[in-house]
Amino acid sequence: MSEDDRQRWNGRYCEQTGASLEPSRFLQSLADRLPGTGRALDVAGGPGHDALWLARRGLEVTLLDISDVALERAAVAAREAGVPLRGERVDLEAEPLPPGPYSLVLCLNFLSRPLFDVFPKVLAPGGLLVFAQPTRSNLLRNPHPSARFLLEDGELPGLLRGLEVVSYTEGWTGEGRHEARLVATLRPVPGA
Ligand SMILES: C[S@@+](CC[C@H](N)C(=O)[O-])C[C@H]1O[C@@H](n2cnc3c(N)ncnc32)[C@H](O)[C@@H]1O
Repeated sequence: MSEDDRQRWNGRYCEQTGASLEPSRFLQSLADRLPGTGRALDVAGGPGHDALWLARRGLEVTLLDISDVALERAAVAAREAGVPLRGERVDLEAEPLPPGPYSLVLCLNFLSRPLFDVFPKVLAPGGLLVFAQPTRSNLLRNPHPSARFLLEDGELPGLLRGLEVVSYTEGWTGEGRHEARLVATLRPVPGA
């Protein structure tokens, strides 16, 4: 496990006491398209704002993150909300994703390019990948995230492996970030 990353993120989350558990607007905008049952994986989901929202909607959610502070915060929020939520401390740069199949894999604001080889292996046929990450143009208006955490403009579709694009947009969002946003699906094998 990358101890530096873990401590850095733990420190950040410790500073953010009372942070909002409001789910991502992008995720909420997809409400009509998301599965309402089955297993979901929130990859690097932080303190669980999106995972909790999905769990409330009836999905069986596993939240992965390197930060134990974030995972503990998510566990407390889930207990208070009375919804089941499974948290796993994982270094996504070094450890595998827990095995699927998942009806939904969510990965927002976390970029590890090798994961694109793994997403199709953990998705159920017909399952959805929901992914969003700022691109280099974001630096024109925002100093963070720094360049090493950004996608190149136009890079995202080329990272996809074995999945079919359902929707892809790239541009300035209502929140003032330049983001690439993708929904993709693992096409079911005919007759399987
Ligand atoms: C920018 S936050 C995004 C959190 C959430 N997905 C969101 O959109 O608000 C990045 C998250 O990635 C986690 N993270 C950073 N490096 C990681 C790693 N190597 N393995 C797992 N999680 C990691 C951090 O702890 C943090 O919660």
